[in-house]
Amino acid sequence: MRDHTPPRPSRYVLAVGLVLLLCGLLFGYDQGVISGALGGIEKEFEPSTLVIEIITSWVTLGAMVGALVAGVLADRLGRRFTLVLASVIFVVGALLEALAPSTAVLTVGRLVLGAGVGIASVAGPLYGAENAAARDRGRMVSLYQMAVTIGIFLAYWADYLLIEDDRWRLMLGISAVPAVLLVLVVLPLKDSATWYLKVGRRADAEAVVRRAEPDVDAAERVATIEAALASEQQASWGEVFSRTWRRPLVVAGGLAVLQQLTGINAIIYYANTIFAAAGFDSPTQQSLATLWAVGGVNVLATLIAVLYVDRFGRKPLLTIGSWGMLLSLVLVAGAFFRLDEVTASEQASHGPTNAGILALVGTVTFIASFAFSLGPIVWTVINEVFPSHVRGKGVAAATALNWFAAWAVTQTFLSIVDLTSTSGAFLIFAFFCVVTLWFTRRYVPETKGRTLEEVQQMWADPDELSRAIAARD
Ligand code: BGC
Repeated sequence: MRDHTPPRPSRYVLAVGLVLLLCGLLFGYDQGVISGALGGIEKEFEPSTLVIEIITSWVTLGAMVGALVAGVLADRLGRRFTLVLASVIFVVGALLEALAPSTAVLTVGRLVLGAGVGIASVAGPLYGAENAAARDRGRMVSLYQMAVTIGIFLAYWADYLLIEDDRWRLMLGISAVPAVLLVLVVLPLKDSATWYLKVGRRADAEAVVRRAEPDVDAAERVATIEAALASEQQASWGEVFSRTWRRPLVVAGGLAVLQQLTGINAIIYYANTIFAAAGFDSPTQQSLATLWAVGGVNVLATLIAVLYVDRFGRKPLLTIGSWGMLLSLVLVAGAFFRLDEVTASEQASHGPTNAGILALVGTVTFIASFAFSLGPIVWTVINEVFPSHVRGKGVAAATALNWFAAWAVTQTFLSIVDLTSTSGAFLIFAFFCVVTLWFTRRYVPETKGRTLEEVQQMWADPDELSRAIAARD
């Protein structure tokens, strides 16, 4: 009888998985850590609201630039060396932050570190996907998303342990550790077979395949990759933005932006500040609430999505999640009508109140709803809607848009709170949940169960496209 169990991933592929895990941890740690660091930074430098917003958000601006140049770097230097470069940039950024004598140096550190994050956020998944056998490719994307949420959780944990003495320099400096680990793990590995073939190093390509998939015929596998590369002239930017691919571009770009305009990173970055306003009066209490209510719930709910995305389909999860986010934002906004405003200073004048507890419940449901829907699904959809010769640039454009929108939200959140109220800011996010519901219904096709080739054909067939958009589970 033939054995149908798929071969276990080789040690080499597990090491590639570890690279991806570290890239996700790096990304997540830097998303989360600022929440607990802000208090100490404020005490030391007494910055204005605008400067706090800049310190918080410019990491995403750096990441946007990093993501835009990452594709070129990965082609020129190779995926592996680009990751080493990202780690070095990252360590420099982390040191600048940890040793910053002023808010100006701290801001430069945030930008530099962000560039490292942005480069790794493109080169890591690319390296992972190219080194994985087709059957493991989806798992690699999920692994990355899980790692991001675990990174956020670890950052909150570090914040919780270090917040009592306001050791913000250590909180920020620790992020150099996964970067150093990344260099140590990636250096002994090889680049991807795809990249070796692109630069004409066929023997190296075969050597990687032999290590990654010892059970397949390396020469045959390399010939397949070579044929795919030859038939696939990569699209120019002009073609990516042409009418032909407008539909998938709108779907990917729209979801990338809405994922941020619904407020996730305002909550991730300013969680402690929000809990302070909700009545958790010691920094340690705020950090503990952030650790579990935001960090822990985020990891758990992401795990659920990763396990069930192929059973439920993209559209139902997006719709249920957006409804959950909408209702919880309205709840949080309602609670904040009764609470002190979120101020930049994290000083709460009262202990937990009923309204504070409602705000906590609302935040937990918001995070859970995001984590099983917009969090992972947006990235899944972005990676599957483009035809393969447009995918590289299409995904890069959507990723850069996502960083840009993240920047816009974190840069303006505290000012919008000042200008309107905390409730006002949450109601704006709630409005964008309504937009997301409309957008999903009107534009997003169901891609569950379709091969990438079928998705590609769907864009050219109006009837098939309408059926996929109208699909309900
Ligand atoms: C988003 C990030 C966010 C994270 C939270 C990701 O899907 O792109 O901006 O911080 O989810 O888990």
